[in-house]
Order: sequence, then C-alpha cells, then structure tokens
Amino acid sequence: MKNVSSYPLSRLRRNRHDNFTRRLVQENHLHVDNLIWPIFVCEGQNQRQKVASMPGVERVSLDLLVEHVKQAVDLGIPAVAIFPITPKELRDSKGTEALNPDNLMCRASRLLKKNFPDLGIIGDVALDPYTDHGHDGLIKDGRILNDESIEVLRLQALNQARAGNDIIAPSDMMDGRVQAIRETLDEHNFETVRIMSYTAKYASAFYGPFRDALGSGGLLTGDKKTYQMNPANSDEALREVEQDLAEGADMIMVKPGMPYLDIIRRIRDNFAVPTFAYQVSGEYAMIMGAIEKGWLDRDRTILESLMAFKRAGCSGILTYFALDAARLLKD
Ligand code: PBG
Repeated sequence: MKNVSSYPLSRLRRNRHDNFTRRLVQENHLHVDNLIWPIFVCEGQNQRQKVASMPGVERVSLDLLVEHVKQAVDLGIPAVAIFPITPKELRDSKGTEALNPDNLMCRASRLLKKNFPDLGIIGDVALDPYTDHGHDGLIKDGRILNDESIEVLRLQALNQARAGNDIIAPSDMMDGRVQAIRETLDEHNFETVRIMSYTAKYASAFYGPFRDALGSGGLLTGDKKTYQMNPANSDEALREVEQDLAEGADMIMVKPGMPYLDIIRRIRDNFAVPTFAYQVSGEYAMIMGAIEKGWLDRDRTILESLMAFKRAGCSGILTYFALDAARLLKD
C-alpha cells in the first residue's frame, strides 16, 4: 500500500468535478443587467452603414433606430449609450453643434425616450463628435483649454438632459468638469440626472476603430495625451476617482477595459462605488478579427472577455457585444 500522506489532502479539482458543483462555487456571474450597448447614429434615411474596422457594428439613421434599439429592449438590456456621427459641414473649431437642441444626439434621445420610456439613455459629453479638429475640448495655439472647454461642456450636458438623457457621461477628461456639470444640471432642476464619469480614461491606441466610426479619426490633429491619462499610470487613476466622487459623480468608468483590469480592481478595493468599464472599439475589433479568421471561438470568447470585467469588480460593461452577450446569457 502506498503511503497515504503522499496524496494531496486538499484537491481543488474536487470542486470542479461536475457541473452542479462548479455552479455552486462560482464566484462571479454575468447578467444582462450588467450590459450597456453603445450605438452609432447617423443622418439620412434608411441608412445602415457598416463600420469597416468593427465587423457587425452599424451606423443607423433615425428612421431605423427604434427597430434597431428594440433588439436591446427585448433582450432586457438596461441602457444604451448614443454616439452621433456629425456631418463634416456641421463641425467647427468650437463644437457649436453640441449645443444645438435639435442635433442628432438630442433627436435620437427624444425618439428613444418616447418609444422606450424605461430604457436608460446615456449621452457622452465631449466635443470630439462636433469639432473640426477632433479634440474633446476647445483649442488655442495648439493647446486644449481646460476651463473654457468646461463652459461648453456644461451647456452640452444641459442640452442632453433637456432632450431626455438619464445619464450624462463626460468623456473629455478636463479637470473640474464633473462639478461644473453637476452644478449646471442642479440649477436647471435636473438633480435626478446621473453622472457616469469617464474617470480613468487613458490616451489609448484602442480607440482607433471608434474614431473611424465617428469620422473624427482623420480630423484629429496630434494626440489626446495632455488630457487623457498615460497608460503607464495607476496611482493617478485613484486620484481621478477621488476627485470625481468629490465633485458629485454617481458612477465611474475605466476605459479601455481589458488592458486596464488592474485599474478596475484597485478602484474597487479602494472605493465603494459603482464602477463601469468600457470594452472599447479596439478590443471589439481585436476579438472580432480573430473570430472572423476562425482563430477564436465566438461565443466563449465574448462571454469570457465580459466575465473578466465582473471578476475585476465591475458593476457593468459598455460593450459592442451587448446584444450577442444578452442572447448567449438567455440560452
Ligand atoms: C470621445 C470618446 C471616445 C470613445 C468614447 N468617447 C474616443 C476618444 O476619446 O478619442 C472611444 C470608444 C471606443 O473606442 O469604443 N471622447
């Protein structure tokens, strides 16, 4: 007989032995409630334009928008984030179109609110969809102006709240914008409109396909490194969170997602606050590219990539896979 002590006493494989046990000991769960679907809207009639670098993602005109978003509503997805494609001729150096109460974003919000009163509508606040230089704020002599940009951003947020957006998501990374937006919303009796701040938004290469989708990529002069965070930094993200919470943010976001799971975990360990991640266009493109080549299994890769966010501590994820994931979770 073999000496018993030579066998492992603790065997972690026992809890992996069968499906029921694996289910009992599973630490994290992905649920449709965790999904936010970013959508691109464009002008025109009967438009469903493909985005070359984001296979499966379309820019949709307003006449098709209700049908498009109904897919998410039917699947039980709690919220969508609207991104408008502004025609070139409406872009200027100051992003004036951001303040137009009839701009594409506002028309889309009103339409969706009317048709789906219970669906959460999230609006990005930043000037890049509206500027002819592709930056998120105002520029003078090649520099992005902080405080002057905030004056426009607070009005942009107000414009969106008036159109019915439930959540304002400032993605511009100017210092002090959360407070300015909070004050402006409250002054105009929008005290229930929530702020989901893009708190730790990195100057990332992974936004490339999104800028293609928006048509702002080719316009961008220089980079966004003077306002978006350096990918090498982690402590600084905690200071950003501290600041945004003090300024009145209700929810915070880390962006991009998969390359920054460590940041999500640190935030979650340090602050008891709803934390979201944006699995951005480049992450989507990377996964879809490999799926299309037959190098990765579609369903398993999508769900595993999203589960990783839950494990890291996320409350929810903005993801272009929201519909696919919701369908897979139903099966
Ligand atoms: C705009 C904004 C960007 C994204 C969301 N809001 C791009 C950028 O900062 O250049 C990127 C989303 C994605 O890549 O999917 N401020």
